Amino acid sequence: MRAFLMLIVMVVMAASAHADVISERKENFRANVKSLKLIQPAMEQGNMETITQEAEAIANWAKAMPEFFPDGSDMGDTKARPEIWENWDDFVAKSAANREAAETLASLAAAGDYDALPAAFGALSKTCGDCHKLYKY
Ligand code: HEC
Repeated sequence: MRAFLMLIVMVVMAASAHADVISERKENFRANVKSLKLIQPAMEQGNMETITQEAEAIANWAKAMPEFFPDGSDMGDTKARPEIWENWDDFVAKSAANREAAETLASLAAAGDYDALPAAFGALSKTCGDCHKLYKY
């Protein structure tokens, strides 16, 4: 009985430890949407500074992203699919692709390459969908 209670306590503790990481990652993903929404009008206005800044924010989150998916964090208030941990290397590769696309957009904007921006923006958005398709409910 005691061992059983200990187990319950440990499971509850693990779940609440993950609750923080889950809510933090969701917050960061919502920030991604805000960044994309700022980048879109900035492209029309030629506001390179905003594009660079927001694309860098996306790249920074992409870099940290795998750390926010510890084992067992597919339980709780989350839409993360268990396939993330079954195909961990691919999940990490998809976050790296997201980062690279964001970095490309940031450096094109920093270089003032106005004409290249829409395609780079499209490529970046695609990396979001490429991951969600497989790893998000
Ligand atoms: C490598 C995989 C991956 C990439 C890349 C990725 N996402 Fe996600 N995203 C996820 C997963 C997994 C979840 C589910 C997280 C959860 O519910 O715990 C998620 C959740 C979200 C959510 C829901 C957040 C919430 O409050 O529930 C939004 C919005 C989102 N992503 C937007 C984006 C945008 C925009 C991009 C691209 C700029 C992006 N994501 C790139 C994997 C990814």
